[in-house]
Amino acid sequence: MDQSSSPVLEALAEYHRRGYVNFCPPGHKQGLGVDEEVRRVLGADVFRSDLLATGVLDDRTSGGRVLERAQELMADAVGADHAFFSTCGSSLSVKSAMMAVAAPGESMLIGRDAHKSVIAGLTLTGIRPVWVRPRWDGELHLAHPPSPEAFEQAFDEHPAAVGALVTSPSPYGTCSDLEAIAEICHRRGKPLVVDEAWGAHLPFHDELPTWAMDAGADVCVVSIHKMGAGFEQGSVFHLQGDLIDPVRLEQSADLLSTTSPNVLLFAAMDGWRRQMALRGEELLAAALQLADSTRREIDGLPGLEVLDDRLVAKEASHDLDRLQIMIDTLAAGISGYQASDWLRAERSINVGLSDHRRIVAQFTFADDPLSADQLVTALADLTRTALPTPKSVVLPDPGELELEQVTTPREAFFADQETVPARDAVGRIAAEQVTPYPPGIPAIVPGERITAGVVDYLRSGIEATMVVPDAADPAVRTIRVVRSDRGTDLP
Ligand SMILES: Cc1ncc(COP(=O)(O)O)c(C=O)c1O
Repeated sequence: MDQSSSPVLEALAEYHRRGYVNFCPPGHKQGLGVDEEVRRVLGADVFRSDLLATGVLDDRTSGGRVLERAQELMADAVGADHAFFSTCGSSLSVKSAMMAVAAPGESMLIGRDAHKSVIAGLTLTGIRPVWVRPRWDGELHLAHPPSPEAFEQAFDEHPAAVGALVTSPSPYGTCSDLEAIAEICHRRGKPLVVDEAWGAHLPFHDELPTWAMDAGADVCVVSIHKMGAGFEQGSVFHLQGDLIDPVRLEQSADLLSTTSPNVLLFAAMDGWRRQMALRGEELLAAALQLADSTRREIDGLPGLEVLDDRLVAKEASHDLDRLQIMIDTLAAGISGYQASDWLRAERSINVGLSDHRRIVAQFTFADDPLSADQLVTALADLTRTALPTPKSVVLPDPGELELEQVTTPREAFFADQETVPARDAVGRIAAEQVTPYPPGIPAIVPGERITAGVVDYLRSGIEATMVVPDAADPAVRTIRVVRSDRGTDLP
């Protein structure tokens, strides 16, 4: 296919050339009615290109196949059979993929290091999770993605499971052995869904971790806004093979989606695909080189360690996206939360992720030596700054953070509930999810039995400034639990 074409951008240019007058949404009429201050801050062009997708950008019958052609080009660029654009983030795409694989009451193997949108998918659908546990690294206090052996064992123990879902790369950039997991699934004729929200760029450079479609996944979900150059909320799900019905996948997305998709998002995704198809290798090679030299410079700073080879081993992560620079702050005597707050307050630098002993600085092809230098200089200044001793986060034995799933998330979410003090919630079944964000991996999932360990972890984490936005009480002084402990048997 002609990867230099860009159907959405071309249709937008044609729309502007024709000078249409619109008697249909959006009501701002391409910015004519927009408040001056809004226009001044956001810019007139944002509104000029904010159009109805069907009936304005394309005709009433979508006869120009604008979106379809853009999706076909995306699939062609990355070697998938089908690609579907979503303007509701990977949060929607991942739920759609789950609905395309399993029906209510059926079970799926899911890595427990899943994002909260997977839990939302379980709650909406009634799919039963069979959790596959990540591997806890006691030295780094970090969970590595679950191993292929763990998936093999889970399938042996739960042969009725209809498929598997893996998150890779993790928000830290660590990766699963997708090829081995895909082989385990396919030997049983079961599909593999990969939440590759952090991996939109992977197909475009060989030195990046293996992209899920090349590893044999059936569906993979990517956020174009994370490691690509789309607007926030732009996401694509890719499909290959015949284990998942493309119509079921598309109809699942249609059930969850908006009827007013934002054309700006489509245009940016289409344009990014064109950019990657034409220049991705060159742009990503430069980004990898810059990230590599930046890693070495930061690693040379006193008290800071850039995690690299220590993350990748047989009993650890399978691979690492080196554009994600994970910096351990433990030896500097400060928490990741402190480092992140200091960088923002004192140097106007924002990092993507922070936890009790790490920050992650995300590099993309949009960075340059100037932004890299700003980061290194700021971190050097940070290492010379005296910050108060951080409040410590209680990290119990990993076993205490591996909660027993007593009912499905759906049953617990819709059950009769009560709010109890966090201490009294120990031993009770959670009715809500409780998620430190970022990275967005729930510490408690609805239907899990709450342990003292997880309460200690969350309470001490919050004292140390961890943020838990989805809990009914974000301070986690109270937790919503199921009123009666009448569980149902999970598979
Ligand atoms: C692993 C993972 N999956 C899915 C999502 C959801 O992606 P989006 O923000 O595009 O909805 C995220 C977001 O952080 C994520 O980290």
